[in-house]
Amino acid sequence: VVAPTEADAMQRAVALASRGRGRTSPNPVVGCVVLDAAGAVAGEGFHERAGWPHAEVRALTQAGPRARGGTAVVTLEPCRHTGRTGPCTAALVAAGVRRVVVGVRDPYPPAAGGVDVLRSSGIEVEVGVGAPEAARVNEAWLTFARHRRPHLTWKYAASLDGRVAAADGTSRWITGPAARADGHRLRAESDAVMVGSGTVLADDPQLAVRDADLLGGQPLRVVVDTEARTPATARLFDSAAPTLVAVAQDAPLERIRMVESLAAVARLPRGPGGLDVAALLAELAARDVVSVLLEGGPTLAGTFLEGGFVDRVVGYTAPLLIGGGGLPVLGGAGAAGIDAAWRLQLDEVDRIGPDLRLVARPRRKES
Ligand SMILES: NC(=O)c1ccc[n+]([C@@H]2O[C@H](COP(=O)([O-])OP(=O)(O)OC[C@H]3O[C@@H](n4cnc5c(N)ncnc54)[C@H](OP(=O)(O)O)[C@@H]3O)[C@@H](O)[C@H]2O)c1
Repeated sequence: VVAPTEADAMQRAVALASRGRGRTSPNPVVGCVVLDAAGAVAGEGFHERAGWPHAEVRALTQAGPRARGGTAVVTLEPCRHTGRTGPCTAALVAAGVRRVVVGVRDPYPPAAGGVDVLRSSGIEVEVGVGAPEAARVNEAWLTFARHRRPHLTWKYAASLDGRVAAADGTSRWITGPAARADGHRLRAESDAVMVGSGTVLADDPQLAVRDADLLGGQPLRVVVDTEARTPATARLFDSAAPTLVAVAQDAPLERIRMVESLAAVARLPRGPGGLDVAALLAELAARDVVSVLLEGGPTLAGTFLEGGFVDRVVGYTAPLLIGGGGLPVLGGAGAAGIDAAWRLQLDEVDRIGPDLRLVARPRRKES
């Protein structure tokens, strides 16, 4: 058996981490591989659910005495704080590992500093191995930890000519079943699913995750509804999942009362286009929402984009032409000139059934 390199072990740790996706919130996903003193794999683990053992502890348990003198390869800096479980730094020291290889540092102050603790215990630490992949697998949580706001994915389904609805407002089944199933998977991975009042009034979506797709609990359904116009009969008031309706502090009181009788309500300040979306994101962060899937529509997406809050775009494009008065993918004021357009980096392009799936992220420097 050929011993894996530490870089290989990190790729394996990233793959392990990804198995926790959609289940660990508000914790990060973490994967760990323990190599014995000879460099052979002795243990593997990933963080499966908040409150459950951390990846390092699981990998060390599997490795047992073989961890002594070995190397722990872990996607995220081991924590040094005692949350619901003990500090991972203490577990690594107790197991007698000689070396720890870390993908990315933990930017969350109460947990950070694990690298220093390990070094002061005489353990050799290397940081940054496989960092791009280790950061990507944890992109939602890292955004949350760095900026204290949820990571936001804007998802849409459009025609080849960039329309999300026809002139009469109908938009169902632009894409095929495979793209729609993929959209459901994105929902299942998110802590919250968000739409504007326009989409609720036009489509009456239910926004729940089918049981078969559920990873953790149902995502919180969030409606951005300045004047509390969501009708009492809306499907997202059913019992399939929890719902939060964000309204203006000064929205009509009788409307707020009606909504309060059916769902949780957050009263927020007004901002450009309706509600203050930064205040909304802060409100969601306070509720431990780490990841948001914005499912529409074009007007709300325009406001989030203009605020610099869109971290990832997942666009499904169908070979279908709508033309004419069809609704464009993106609303709002838009870019006045091509120089002011939002330039994204195209990270994934896949055929999905008869449609295309594109994943793009804004080019921005990480702090
Ligand atoms: N194909 C797709 O992927 C897709 C997805 C979603 C929707 N759609 C289509 O899009 C259409 C609805 O479009 P829409 O643009 O009206 O929907 P929307 O973006 O979901 O809702 C817009 C409404 O959200 C409210 N809002 C509150 N705060 C806001 C803020 N800060 N910025 C922007 N909006 C804010 C505003 O109404 P208030 O201020 O009154 O609350 C605004 O009119 C429908 O035809 C639907 O079928 C298509």
